[in-house]
Amino acid sequence: MNRTFRPGAPVRGTLVPPPDKSLSHRAALLAAMGEGTVRVTGYLDAADTRSTLAAVQALGARVEAERDGLRITGVGLRGAREPGAPLDVGNAGTLLRLLPGWLAGQEGRAFTLDGDASIRRRPVDRVAAPLRLMGARLRAREGRLPPLEIEGAPLRGTEYVLPVASAQVKSCVLLAGLLAAGETMVVEPAPSRDHTERMLLAAGADVRRDGDRVRLRPPDGLATGDLRVAGDPSSAAFPMAAALVVPGSRVTVTGMTGNWTRTGFVRIAERMGARVRGDLELRGAPLTPGEPICDVEVAHAPLHGTEVTPDEVPLAIDELPLVALLGCFAEGETVVRGAQELRVKESDRIATVVDGLRGLGAVIEATADGFVVQGTGGLRGGTLRAHGDHRLAMLGAVAGLGSRAGVEVDGVEAAEVSYPRFADDLAALRG
Ligand code: S3P
Repeated sequence: MNRTFRPGAPVRGTLVPPPDKSLSHRAALLAAMGEGTVRVTGYLDAADTRSTLAAVQALGARVEAERDGLRITGVGLRGAREPGAPLDVGNAGTLLRLLPGWLAGQEGRAFTLDGDASIRRRPVDRVAAPLRLMGARLRAREGRLPPLEIEGAPLRGTEYVLPVASAQVKSCVLLAGLLAAGETMVVEPAPSRDHTERMLLAAGADVRRDGDRVRLRPPDGLATGDLRVAGDPSSAAFPMAAALVVPGSRVTVTGMTGNWTRTGFVRIAERMGARVRGDLELRGAPLTPGEPICDVEVAHAPLHGTEVTPDEVPLAIDELPLVALLGCFAEGETVVRGAQELRVKESDRIATVVDGLRGLGAVIEATADGFVVQGTGGLRGGTLRAHGDHRLAMLGAVAGLGSRAGVEVDGVEAAEVSYPRFADDLAALRG
């Protein structure tokens, strides 16, 4: 489906962002891994997170809809049922990477994970490698791609040094650690989102962070309490970016997680000149159970270029396409380095962002691990193809609002994956 986003009114008002996608996946998984019934308020109703609900149901968990959320009754840490068919993760990379951690330890049962055409291009060797060290038995197509076959086996704890900062891989190893004999330790090259650690801590697990290490001792069971899913900073970043590229704009985002491992984009935007007010958690805050809820206001101001360093990348990984966009509207050069992970997202986001923005008039070059943008203070407009990637579709829409001639987004429906009400929310903020 094609849709054109035109320049015009400023973006003003209050936004309640959709519930966080990362937190929703984790809430469903941890509830399924527990033994009791958990109420999850504000579970994200989008394509990716529906895949997770379908998967946990296929594994034996019970999911019931309530007025403002779900009731999920788990099967216990070792109680996942063998489904009669492959588990379909759809487009959800997080489900593809987290679920094997739990399933690898289901002794005597076998599972297959598969998904859509995009998921079949996304590597799973990154989770297969540490899981094998823990004793797991897995097989991937060509050794690294889905479908992924898992034969449950007894697991043992390990110390795993992540080759790249990835919250998905870290979380997978920690979930496997829940079923493993002995302690599990994950060492991160740079901090990545820590929702799994916070949620496990809240569920009574013995998880500690010590510098760049996360340590977990296996519990007897998980006491996952009721959960309320905070708003998604990665989704909120799109309307926020719209406010930053349209003069006269000001947006207040309420009820989003202020977790410092998720708010790198706001910090980068602030450094580029955006006016930001809010009660975001401070970078490096210690590991505590649950998520800090915050409100943040961003207002338009002249932007200047910046350099995003490799250690900032995991804190803004899904928002880096928007950093490229802000770079187009800024004065001077914007450089992102150390972001080679973008190449294995829902699309090769270095190639698709660079080609997409260049087609709208941007002066932008791809590098092996990021991009370099020469700010020209604006964008002409044109057509941007989403390549089935939700964040590209939303990037095109935001670019359109800031552009001189408007942007036609080809494949706008991709936004359904994480933010089904995106176009309506954006329209509401423009009056
Ligand atoms: C996610 C982690 C990130 C992110 C993805 C969601 C998560 O991936 O890009 O959208 O929920 O753990 P990596 O940690 O693999 O970079």
